[in-house]
Amino acid sequence: MNKINTLFNIQYPIIQAGMVWMSGYKLASAVSNAGGLGLIGAGSMYPEVLRDHIQKCKKATSKPFGVNVPMLYPDLEQIMNIIVEEGVKIVFTSAGNPKTWTPFLKQRGIIVVHVVSSVTFALKAQAAGVDAVVAEGFEAGGHNGRDETTTFTLIPMVKEQIDIPLIAAGGIATGQGMLAAMVLGADGVQIGSRFAASVESSGHENFKQKIIEVKEGDTQLTLKELTPVRLIKNKFYQEVLHLYSHCPTAEDLKELLGKARAKKGMFEGDLDNGELEIGQIAGLIHSIKPAEKIVQEIITDFEQAKLGLSRKSF
Ligand SMILES: Cc1cc2nc3c(=O)[nH]c(=O)nc-3n(C[C@H](O)[C@H](O)[C@H](O)COP(=O)(O)O)c2cc1C
Repeated sequence: MNKINTLFNIQYPIIQAGMVWMSGYKLASAVSNAGGLGLIGAGSMYPEVLRDHIQKCKKATSKPFGVNVPMLYPDLEQIMNIIVEEGVKIVFTSAGNPKTWTPFLKQRGIIVVHVVSSVTFALKAQAAGVDAVVAEGFEAGGHNGRDETTTFTLIPMVKEQIDIPLIAAGGIATGQGMLAAMVLGADGVQIGSRFAASVESSGHENFKQKIIEVKEGDTQLTLKELTPVRLIKNKFYQEVLHLYSHCPTAEDLKELLGKARAKKGMFEGDLDNGELEIGQIAGLIHSIKPAEKIVQEIITDFEQAKLGLSRKSF
């Protein structure tokens, strides 16, 4: 039995990533109903908005689902209390120290997974008592590690060092990608960009269209002095680039970034002035599909790729 399926009591070891402005209850429940694990992304929600999404998700699915909590946002205590009050069973934490909230959540019987981008942090997460780690490579959309370690190298290196279940993220959008990650040692996969371009994603239609237009080389990891993030090279990105040519301080970058850039781009659809977070694999995403279809295609392709591999000889 697959360790991730057992841990979460799901059918397929496919986790739909928590994503700001993309993953509300509609996407999370659709993925859970399709046999994967849907995550509500708390990062873009005020605490009471999160409560509403959790309650709606409970109505929309009887299957397990979870909440992703990036620990760099305010109201963390309130968010954690709502998660407990609403009886959420699974929490994925990211962007912070796993020691801070893992004991609180574990004492309340919640399964905790932490997202890391290096072996060092995977070991810290394991020591903090998490149930599994997501190891996220440089290809991934959204916030990322500074070291630019790719998924292809990160997964086997983390696998070599940890004993707990391992979920691969970054650059996976197909069954072939999932198989490759599992061959490298992952027990399951976390998929973001592919689900951002789904019917149920709460992203603006402009942004979804943009994702399917993205080609190889159209994204870049930037703003490393603040929190590194992979962005589409739009007008706002060009402004960041221009500022870099003047040797900016972190304060200068913060000022340019301002507030609510991500909301402006991904939720309100301002493709010029907004921050557009997506992974390198967007170059392989050519259509917007229902989440259930995405899960089914990944599983079908995974099985075919596995069969194809077993027939290959050298
Ligand atoms: C639009 C977008 C928003 C994201 N927001 C979050 C977030 O709120 N919390 C988080 O832990 N990761 C976030 N991520 C990263 C994803 O959870 C996931 O690890 C990543 O997308 C995997 O790589 P992929 O995009 O190549 O599938 C985001 C990614 C994208 C594309």
